[in-house]
Amino acid sequence: MASWIEGKVVQLRHWTQGLYSLQLEADIAPFVAGQFTRLALEIDGEMVARPYSFVNGPDNPVHEFYFIRVPGGPLTARLVKLQPGDSVFIAPKGAGFFVLKEVPAAEHLWMLSTGTALGPFLSILATDEVWQRYRNIVLVHAVRTAVELNYREQIDALLATHSQQLQYIPFVSRETSAIALPGRVPDAIESGALEARAGLELNAANSQVMICGNPAMVSDTRAVLEARGLTKNSRREAGQITTEQYWKT
Ligand SMILES: Cc1cc2nc3c(=O)[nH]c(=O)nc-3n(C[C@H](O)[C@H](O)[C@H](O)COP(=O)(O)OP(=O)(O)OC[C@H]3O[C@@H](n4cnc5c(N)ncnc54)[C@H](O)[C@@H]3O)c2cc1C
Ligand SMILES: NC(=O)c1ccc[n+]([C@@H]2O[C@H](COP(=O)([O-])OP(=O)(O)OC[C@H]3O[C@@H](n4cnc5c(N)ncnc54)[C@H](OP(=O)(O)O)[C@@H]3O)[C@@H](O)[C@H]2O)c1
Repeated sequence: MASWIEGKVVQLRHWTQGLYSLQLEADIAPFVAGQFTRLALEIDGEMVARPYSFVNGPDNPVHEFYFIRVPGGPLTARLVKLQPGDSVFIAPKGAGFFVLKEVPAAEHLWMLSTGTALGPFLSILATDEVWQRYRNIVLVHAVRTAVELNYREQIDALLATHSQQLQYIPFVSRETSAIALPGRVPDAIESGALEARAGLELNAANSQVMICGNPAMVSDTRAVLEARGLTKNSRREAGQITTEQYWKT
């Protein structure tokens, strides 16, 4: 078993509809924006651990995790009961390759997320590097209902600071919304609706695409992009697609 660091809860924010942000103070090694760590609690004498992406930028000493309470989920059922000052175990260092170092330079960076997978993109957007590497950045957040479009204050602040560089494009799939595109991300790529909204072309020559969240969205989006000639990034061969799935199908 990994050795755990004991973190202390600073705050648990309940947004809406089972969505929470947990803020923790913990003496862990520096991580890279886009990485995840593991959080654990002792439940019935056993350590139950799950991966969670950092939402905070690496320079922020308060670690933040955006999560959804999954019905019947063993760890999230307990995370939602945490109070300030409670202990949460956290892995000593960050992990994972959903980081800018694995994403080649390009003119446009498309950040495509569902639900709580907005988190790693907020962490990446808190770095200086991302603004230096990409001329245009499009942050896409796809949710079922408009009340799940959280972190608006933080996103609005980024939009104000980087008005020439950043666009925020929400998708709401299960109701009509005045501010969001309807339906699903892969369909909107296929139809051209996403590019029309962004006023940018998405092709293999000008774009890098990072995709995170629901595994079906990740694979359907990847298929649509591959049909356009984009390929997955690998250490051996640079492509345009970088992915992270939050659970297995
Ligand atoms: C690399 C990585 C990073 C992750 N980062 C996050 C994160 O930042 N925030 C987060 O909420 N979850 C994240 N997850 C998922 C997380 O690890 C847990 O699976 C989740 O919190 C549920 O834990 P559980 O013990 O309650 O239920 P589990 O038994 O772990 O999950 C039960 C089921 O819930 C569904 N589910 C799991 N996670 C999600 C989710 N995020 N949104 C919708 N449905 C889900 C899936 O159908 C899954 O099979 C990440 C997973 C991976 C692999
Ligand atoms: N969000 C809620 O209100 C709610 C309520 C009860 C339970 N839950 C539980 O929470 C989990 C789901 O979490 P969630 O609501 O964050 O996520 P989700 O089901 O992953 O939905 C987020 C967004 O991803 C879209 N999506 C799903 N499959 C896709 C695909 N193949 N291609 C492209 N887009 C796709 C959804 O569109 P569609 O709407 O078209 O699927 C939705 O817009 C489940 O475990 C569920 O049981 C959520």
